[in-house]
Amino acid sequence: MNVRFEPTRGLSGELRAPPDKSISHRAALLGAMASEPVRIEGYLDAADTNSTLDAVRALGALVELRDGDGEVVVRGTGLREAREPDGPIDVGNAGTLLRLLPGWLAAQQGRSFTLDGDASIRRRPVDRVAEPLRLMGAELTAREGRFPPLLVQGTHLRAISYDMSVASAQVKSCVLLAALAADGATTISEPARSRDHTERMLLRAGVGVHRNGRHVTVVNTDELLLDSVRVPGDPSSAAFLVTAGVLVPQSRLLIADVGTNWTRTGFMRIVRRMQGIVLGDLEDESGELSPEEPVSDLDVAHGQLEGTVVEPEEVPLAIDELPLVALLGCFAEGETIVRGAQELRLKESDRIAVVVEGLRGLGAEIEAMDDGFAVRGTGGLRGGTIDAHGDHRMAMLGAIAGLASKEGVEVVGMEAAAVSYPGFVEDLATLCS
Ligand code: S3P
Repeated sequence: MNVRFEPTRGLSGELRAPPDKSISHRAALLGAMASEPVRIEGYLDAADTNSTLDAVRALGALVELRDGDGEVVVRGTGLREAREPDGPIDVGNAGTLLRLLPGWLAAQQGRSFTLDGDASIRRRPVDRVAEPLRLMGAELTAREGRFPPLLVQGTHLRAISYDMSVASAQVKSCVLLAALAADGATTISEPARSRDHTERMLLRAGVGVHRNGRHVTVVNTDELLLDSVRVPGDPSSAAFLVTAGVLVPQSRLLIADVGTNWTRTGFMRIVRRMQGIVLGDLEDESGELSPEEPVSDLDVAHGQLEGTVVEPEEVPLAIDELPLVALLGCFAEGETIVRGAQELRLKESDRIAVVVEGLRGLGAEIEAMDDGFAVRGTGGLRGGTIDAHGDHRMAMLGAIAGLASKEGVEVVGMEAAAVSYPGFVEDLATLCS
């Protein structure tokens, strides 16, 4: 589906970003692993998180959707009682489901599971989760040793100490889930801090989780006791609205109830550093693990931007928003550089190649590097056509670029937005009216 976004001025209004995708995936998975029903308030109704509900159903959980208010109740099977499904589990486009689920399945003794998904999923590496799970004793087989379909044969797991080579919350979470049913305490060391929703939710579920700097230790358990989860607005989805408010002249937006967990708000801090106006209560960096997911309203206004350098240690805290940093850089004074972000090449699309090709087509001066990009601000973008390459975040970036451009932007493949933000085009329209 091709959709055109015309240049506009003065975006205004108040809206809520959709519920958090990362937290929704985790709530459904922990719900399936729990012994008692888990009520999830504000579950994200989007393609990725619906894949997770389908997956847990296939594994024996009962999922009740309470119409209208986004409430979902998951009646799980317990930690060690996932059912062997009749056929492969289809993860759709959901990388988080692909990487987290094997952690639970690896501990299902005597049962086998196959995970597969769409064409994009078949290019996403799974060796990064297979390696630590094998060290725990799991048996996994991937296509060409690296890609889905992934076969997981459940077995008895042992606790490990694992030094991660990439700062990936998906890998960390996979090992944390496997560790729940292993025999002892597992310690995972990250090269840099990544989002910690799994740790927070496990703490709420009564699990022994301890953080010490870059190291997190989880103690095995017999059951998860998690009665309810409230899902806040997704800061990664809100980031598109923030970018629109900052770039479009005379704009003033209020985005309500956004998750402000500090491991997710790297982008908001980068925008502030670029002199964009984003008011709100962002959680401060903390070594202490909290069971809470803090929220705040964000008040956003147009600002004159300055270029910035995003350093490697900031990358995991803003990983999904880095394409938007490139877009902001086109409008900023001076250069904007992102380094240490080679992981972007392994997302729903190669987000370095697709951002550079896409923004160049709209008139940007942007160069690709192996691990990031450099943008020379030229005061704005001309406009043109951008192909989303099936990537939800690229589709939404194209739309925002259109609103802020001189001549408008046509997005090829706008339907991809439904992976994380189904009402995106309608929400933008309400801000333009
Ligand atoms: C996610 C972690 C990140 C992120 C993805 C969601 C998660 O991936 O890009 O969109 O929910 O854990 P990596 O762990 O591969 O960095």
